[in-house]
Amino acid sequence: MKTLITGGSGYIGSHMAVKLIEEGHEVVLFDNLSNSYLNSIDAIKEITKYKPLFIKGDIKSTLNLDDLFSKNSFDNVIHFAAYKAIGESVKYPLKYYENNILGSINLLKVMQKYGVKDLVFSSSASVYGEADKIPITEECIKNPTNPYGKSKLAFEEILEDIVTSENIFNVASLRYFNPIGAHETGILGESPVVPYNIMPVIADVLMGRKKSLEIFGNDYPTDDGTCVRDYLHVQDLVEGHLAALSYIKENKGISTFNLGTGVGTSVMELIRKFEEITYKKIDIEFSPRRMGDVPVLYTCPNKALKVLNWETKRSLNDMCEDTWRWLKNNPNGFNF
Ligand SMILES: NC(=O)c1ccc[n+]([C@@H]2O[C@H](COP(=O)([O-])OP(=O)(O)OC[C@H]3O[C@@H](n4cnc5c(N)ncnc54)[C@H](O)[C@@H]3O)[C@@H](O)[C@H]2O)c1
Repeated sequence: MKTLITGGSGYIGSHMAVKLIEEGHEVVLFDNLSNSYLNSIDAIKEITKYKPLFIKGDIKSTLNLDDLFSKNSFDNVIHFAAYKAIGESVKYPLKYYENNILGSINLLKVMQKYGVKDLVFSSSASVYGEADKIPITEECIKNPTNPYGKSKLAFEEILEDIVTSENIFNVASLRYFNPIGAHETGILGESPVVPYNIMPVIADVLMGRKKSLEIFGNDYPTDDGTCVRDYLHVQDLVEGHLAALSYIKENKGISTFNLGTGVGTSVMELIRKFEEITYKKIDIEFSPRRMGDVPVLYTCPNKALKVLNWETKRSLNDMCEDTWRWLKNNPNGFNF
């Protein structure tokens, strides 16, 4: 089984690579390194004792993609490559639409040209926006509140149309909630070029690179006023992809799954848990709400359990402990 991982040197992509190599897949990682470092490939090798092929390239370039597919015969594609910062997407929507929609269309076209049918797509819980129902099921109304979420929903819809019209692709769109954590060895973890997600920002505070953690909004209609999210361990998440990959081999067409724990945790609760694990105080500072953020997002995990036989196994403790091990071993992440 030869699997292309776009965004393969990134946070989730690199954990996915480890898991697939362990499962006996041959993997090729394709990434433009806009939000990751090449050092993550060495970490994959350190864990698996196998150095996967890495190709620097951009999904916005049809030439890069054609070159990649003409030299490799893939059985599957797992498509992580995207920009993902909600705030930035509000500021620069075109950048997001171009990368996340146009780039993804380029990928579909080259898959079609080379007869590669099976695709797992990284979507996001942000397609729901302010959900009409909590916990969120796959049937909830999709009403994204920012260009990032809109770019993910738009591509999901494009996939629906293509699968319906041509019936050549087998697709799983996976709507992730909030992946955090790191590989349990402490060798691989989240190391973005620009820290937007909560964990890398907490890491900056813990490592003394930032004085305090900025929390956007403490007046949301939640118990402690901070946003509530469904944090899941990145290792659980990549196992969800394995389940989805097996599922689309047997089930043609397109399917959509929420991937999360089903448990809501507020930003303050996450910080307290982190303080407990690290024995460190995390200084915080409240700022006004950020445009595009919604108060509460957590999933109803039933469909993934019933159809994929997948559920999360790791606790919030595990997420924080594994992140802390990664940070202690790699205070600067992969930026060295
Ligand atoms: N981490 C999260 O909280 C989260 C939540 C929901 C969905 N997702 C989705 O999961 C996917 C992976 O997220 P991640 O957290 O690993 O992010 P990440 O930024 O660590 O990984 C994405 C990778 O894609 C690469 N990339 C971006 N644009 C590219 C392009 N045009 N061509 C080639 N490579 C490109 C980046 O360099 C990066 O290595 C993304 O699609 C993201 O939208 C992430």
